[in-house]
Amino acid sequence: TTISPLIAGNWKMNGLRASLEEISALASLLTTGEAPRALVVVCPPATILHAVASSGATSGILAGGQDCHPAASGAHTGDISAGMLADAGAQFVIVGHSERRTQHGETDELVRAKAEAAMGAGLKPIICVGETESERDSGEAESVVARQLAGSIPDAGGQHEVIVAYEPVWAIGTGRTPTNEEIARMHASIRQHLVERFGEPGQTTRILYGGSMKPMNAREILSLENVNGGLVGGASLLAKDFYTIISAV
Ligand code: G3H
Repeated sequence: TTISPLIAGNWKMNGLRASLEEISALASLLTTGEAPRALVVVCPPATILHAVASSGATSGILAGGQDCHPAASGAHTGDISAGMLADAGAQFVIVGHSERRTQHGETDELVRAKAEAAMGAGLKPIICVGETESERDSGEAESVVARQLAGSIPDAGGQHEVIVAYEPVWAIGTGRTPTNEEIARMHASIRQHLVERFGEPGQTTRILYGGSMKPMNAREILSLENVNGGLVGGASLLAKDFYTIISAV
């Protein structure tokens, strides 16, 4: 089975309207160079999501949110629903990023509810999982990730397109990455989980790697078995670097 790769940029809490210049720059790189093999997604702050979705559309840049509330609407000051993200032009939404899990105390149960809300609004959830450094050191990485997968992916994950992002917490923003063998082993174990749980659709669910993916290491990581793309933080902020990663697939 061939899975078309996907490269998503997560801008986190970076990016003002001026950053739309990076979208224009990325758009021209994407349209002047050879057509990319990967689907390209940018997840900017919600304040510029609509602008990113509009200006990226003609060059094939898709937009995504960085989080959503599990409810469709209501008294939730400061929150954004999946339907609102879709209304602003998003086709994807990241849920369960480790920064949300640690800074906002998000549990697997909440992440699952958010992923369900995303599906309900017609968005494809990018569900993040990953172990901390101490969990890896104590040999628990695979069991932690298995527990997160079981708890965070909705049962409808077989009928509805979901994307899994494996992001070892200790590799995020640190310039450190697991070895290729470690990445391949974890992705194989995630694949096995998806196939055991969902059968056939689990064979084609995209599993992205995230955590210090850079122009220098992207080609190597993206060539590993069961690595179907990347979730890129810091290196997605500059069009030139992000384009290099996109072109590495
Ligand atoms: O969602 C993206 C990740 O947290 C990776 O961030 O590429 O800056 O390490 P990073």
